[in-house]
Amino acid sequence: MIAYASRTGNVRYIVSKLQAQAIEITENLIIDKPYLLITYTDKLGEVPTRVSQFLETNSQLCRGVVASGNSNFGNNLFAAAGDKIAMAYQIPLVRKLELRGFQADYEAIQQFYETRVKDEYLLKVK
Ligand SMILES: Cc1cc2nc3c(=O)[nH]c(=O)nc-3n(C[C@H](O)[C@H](O)[C@H](O)COP(=O)(O)O)c2cc1C
Repeated sequence: MIAYASRTGNVRYIVSKLQAQAIEITENLIIDKPYLLITYTDKLGEVPTRVSQFLETNSQLCRGVVASGNSNFGNNLFAAAGDKIAMAYQIPLVRKLELRGFQADYEAIQQFYETRVKDEYLLKVK
């Protein structure tokens, strides 16, 4: 499962390139199986408020984070939402993407998803 937040469509586009069940983060969403989080970066290297709130109740099953950003913000702030979430919840930072990213990014994310998110769920329900 993928949970994502997108304000201007870049993350939504990234999600459309992946083969996975996906759900957009809305207020009070609860996820009951392992998932990969994909978010954009807001303000100056910040986690979008909606994503922070979502993680307050859903961090336990988050297996990794992918962040989109814009490198014009500079190295320290580029996709820094990913760094912050990975650090706060001790989960892997799978990938940082420039805006919509590239084919190699989608492949790396899909690979992580197959091996570290999806399979874990399948093993559990067997
Ligand atoms: C107000 C605003 C602040 C932003 N701040 C950052 C930032 O600090 N670091 C960064 O890498 N990108 C930043 N961005 C760029 C977005 O994270 C980037 O465009 C992302 O791809 C947007 O994803 P979305 O189209 O799914 O909303 C900012 C964009 C906006 C509009």
